[in-house]
Amino acid sequence: MKKKARLETLLISGGYDGDEKTGSLAIPIYRTAAYAFKDTEDARRLFAGEKEGFIYSRINNPTVDILEKRMALAEGGEAGLAASSGMAAILLVAAHLAKNGGEIVSSDRIYGGTFNLFNKTLRGLNVCARFVKNPYQIDDWAREISANTRFLYVETPSNPTLDILDIQKLAGLAKERRLILVVDNTVATPALQTPLKLGADIVIHSLTKYIAGNGTDIGGMIVGKKELIDKIRQEEYRDFGPCLNPEAAWLFLLGLETLTLRMRKHCQNALKVAKFLRKHPKVLKVNYPGLPEHPLHAIGKKQMKGFSGLLSFELKGTFEQAKKFIESLSLCRHVANLGDSKTLAIHPASTTHEQLGIEGRKQAKIPETMIRMSIGLENAADIIEDVKSALSKI
Ligand SMILES: Cc1ncc(COP(=O)(O)O)c(C=O)c1O
Repeated sequence: MKKKARLETLLISGGYDGDEKTGSLAIPIYRTAAYAFKDTEDARRLFAGEKEGFIYSRINNPTVDILEKRMALAEGGEAGLAASSGMAAILLVAAHLAKNGGEIVSSDRIYGGTFNLFNKTLRGLNVCARFVKNPYQIDDWAREISANTRFLYVETPSNPTLDILDIQKLAGLAKERRLILVVDNTVATPALQTPLKLGADIVIHSLTKYIAGNGTDIGGMIVGKKELIDKIRQEEYRDFGPCLNPEAAWLFLLGLETLTLRMRKHCQNALKVAKFLRKHPKVLKVNYPGLPEHPLHAIGKKQMKGFSGLLSFELKGTFEQAKKFIESLSLCRHVANLGDSKTLAIHPASTTHEQLGIEGRKQAKIPETMIRMSIGLENAADIIEDVKSALSKI
């Protein structure tokens, strides 16, 4: 395949020119734990890192390797490292970069699981996090940086508030302070945003979401400079053991083939639902930066090709009414996931972002009346009818 191929082409053919032995057009699933060495010298060289190749599927696997290469090509990075989940990918990066008492400076608008990892679990391993309370202010980021800071962490757009942060500006600060900028690109995917091209150093994904596309498996990905990816693979990845199984990699590769088409439709459907919600008398506020009047629309337009399929909104009512809304949906499913072909809804304050605590949620702007919806690929009119009917019941 041509090196300069465009995204849609890379997502279909990148990293795989066919199987030399069989000519298999579809990518083979290498369901093996280990790989036979040619001789003892070959084994020694592979273990010493003097030769590239496969040793043991906890470290690398030919099917997973294609997914890593394809994701790296899509993100415009040098190399990829697939993990067993998005959380495993975040843990690997944090453990590698901030080991031995390092600090993370993170936006406070992040997925609840990531918040808990930084705020509690990693603290037990002597890695601390400082959360930037107004992540739009570059000065607030600068203020939190200390001599122990190892990296800046951003999720943009963020789950569930859809905050969009200026990657180029944050990359400028990171460079100035000789820090690494890590961006969670799960909500946008490389179809809509490529943070490495805007100056970020590492991109993280939960492959579970839009990359899988239909909620069929759990996985994560890290993309960055080859030297760094190789080090993480040789150290934390090899020793902690959160590898991705080849069947899951195969499903994610299948998902990548249709990613650009699906993202276009997710964006179109989400905008239609957001436009319906913003006019509804029971809705106080809609968080969807794809709406032209949204305060983050301009920055989103600058760094993204579309606004994805995730949105959230605040009801004018109470916590009880928010629960009633969720329970009144019928086409839209009540599920703790996003990025599925099916439309999904959840109440973040009592589920995905419960771990932030009352104060944390207040700070992160997640009220008890907030509903998060991951708009799927159904006919938008059917999604809107279901939402309208659930709103009529509260
Ligand atoms: C933005 C974001 N990043 C990371 C994760 C974690 O991914 P996983 O569930 O694959 O571990 C999630 C999960 O919801 C998420 O929403």
